Amino acid sequence: MRAIKKTMTLHNGVKIPLIGFGTWQISENEVEDAVLEAIKVGYRHIDTAHSYGNEKGVGRAIKKSGIPREQLFITTKLPSHIKTYDEAKVYLKESFENLDVDYIDLILIHAPWPWSDVGRNCDEGNKEVWRHFEELYEQGLVKSIGVSNFSVHDLENIMQDSQVVPHVNQIAFHIGHVKSDVVEFCNEHDILIQAYSPLATGRLLNHQTLKDMADKYNVTVAQLAIRYCIEKDTLPLPKSVTPKYIYENTLVDFKIDESDLKILDEIKL
Ligand SMILES: NC(=O)c1ccc[n+]([C@@H]2O[C@H](COP(=O)([O-])OP(=O)(O)OC[C@H]3O[C@@H](n4cnc5c(N)ncnc54)[C@H](OP(=O)(O)O)[C@@H]3O)[C@@H](O)[C@H]2O)c1
Repeated sequence: MRAIKKTMTLHNGVKIPLIGFGTWQISENEVEDAVLEAIKVGYRHIDTAHSYGNEKGVGRAIKKSGIPREQLFITTKLPSHIKTYDEAKVYLKESFENLDVDYIDLILIHAPWPWSDVGRNCDEGNKEVWRHFEELYEQGLVKSIGVSNFSVHDLENIMQDSQVVPHVNQIAFHIGHVKSDVVEFCNEHDILIQAYSPLATGRLLNHQTLKDMADKYNVTVAQLAIRYCIEKDTLPLPKSVTPKYIYENTLVDFKIDESDLKILDEIKL
């Protein structure tokens, strides 16, 4: 089976398509076409966020695609500065309205701290927000719940007195950037790692070692980088607005040899 058709299974049994389509930095105007193109070439998993400002366009694309809702997997994220129960309620309600869906497949806390104040301790706020996530999960309005950019400390904090272990931690993960302590912790607790910026937001594309290795496999650097994430049991979320690339990024049905994986593991950006 092609990778684009494959799924992984979250620890609650929910199936999640192995490759997700990223939509960060795609404007509200552009996103509808990009998502429709992605769905046309086989993606069934779309990653957006309240703070990307494009949820409405994603929602329109879902409807226009004609694909039954249950065959699509939609993720959105609660903005990183929202750290109270009441505000979480307001913002997530807005995400439901923007996307215009009855349920969301996965919601994430976008980051453990506001992007404007990276590293601030928001332990209590994260627990409070998680309580609302658990309620929505119990009500069946969301099929799975998770976090993003969480360290081991941040994960332990919300897991301390919660009912549900996060299903997902979405983190920056690509060749040259692998945080082994978080990956190890997530593997131990069956928390799926979603690999965001699998192409390092484009920075990997001109790396000479990667170009040489991609040539050897007769693939592009983008395909090599996406396949690397899959070989590492993470779920890549490549983004593109270019139809040629959107399709290219689905063609990742090859294996990277162990010896080459070792070389890729050692790459420093
Ligand atoms: N949770 C978080 O905090 C967080 C943070 C960052 C990202 N994310 C998620 O992860 C997704 C992906 O990360 P990202 O947006 O940083 O970027 P990325 O997927 O690592 O790279 C995207 C860049 O690579 C280009 N590109 C894509 N495919 C290509 C190909 N086959 N050949 C040549 N160039 C190609 C794109 O160009 P064009 O678009 O011009 O075609 C774009 O400039 C995001 O969209 C978002 O959904 C989440």
